[in-house]
Amino acid sequence: MAIVSIIAIDGPAASGKSTLGFRLAEALGYLYFDTGLMYRAVTWLVLDRHIAITNQAAVTLLAEEIPIDVSPPSLADGRACDVVVDHRDITWEIRKPEIEINVSMVSAYPGVREALTLQQRRIGLRGRVVMVGRDIGTIVLPDADIKIYLDASAEERAHRRHQEITARGGKVNYEDILAKVIERDRIDSTRVVAPLKPAQDAVIIDSDHLDADTVFEKVFDLCKS
Ligand code: DC
Repeated sequence: MAIVSIIAIDGPAASGKSTLGFRLAEALGYLYFDTGLMYRAVTWLVLDRHIAITNQAAVTLLAEEIPIDVSPPSLADGRACDVVVDHRDITWEIRKPEIEINVSMVSAYPGVREALTLQQRRIGLRGRVVMVGRDIGTIVLPDADIKIYLDASAEERAHRRHQEITARGGKVNYEDILAKVIERDRIDSTRVVAPLKPAQDAVIIDSDHLDADTVFEKVFDLCKS
């Protein structure tokens, strides 16, 4: 059926990349790899060790030296995979607000990006993989067979995040989420190294008026054609 082996999905925060990537990997029987969780895991480590987030050298050293173990899910609690660092399961820890606030700064450090990009590339080049992030089609796997750039307006993405959190019983303000989405976009797309942008040969999909099923069908068709 599918002849493509390496699929890169990029796009801004909360554009639906993870949902699309996970479904696609499942349908193709490929590995799903969310690179954002590596940046989140480094951020968690920095905070856990009480290292100043502004200490670029110390943050970079952690990214270079501490293995981030990503493996298939060991629990059926909604996780796409297990994330283990320092023998601690941090799968849910890395989704907390304090990580969201600091991860953009950590992921803008060139040394951190270099260390994580090398690991991601090694995994990606084995093939049969759907890799999701911000710079997969441009930097990590520029020779990917298919590159998707999944976009949506900041308002639509904030709306989706808001629904997601309230569905889990959380209490959040839409305006606050929108402000955070806009701020993360700004940092992710203006950083010097590997800024968020579509690869020249990416297929750009604007999902503002498309539901998750339609986006999936579109991309699945692309993979088969
Ligand atoms: O996709 P996410 O929200 O889990 O990503 C967390 C952060 O990591 C986000 O601020 C952007 C950054 N990131 C990145 O710079 N490059 C990637 N390939 C993946 C994520």
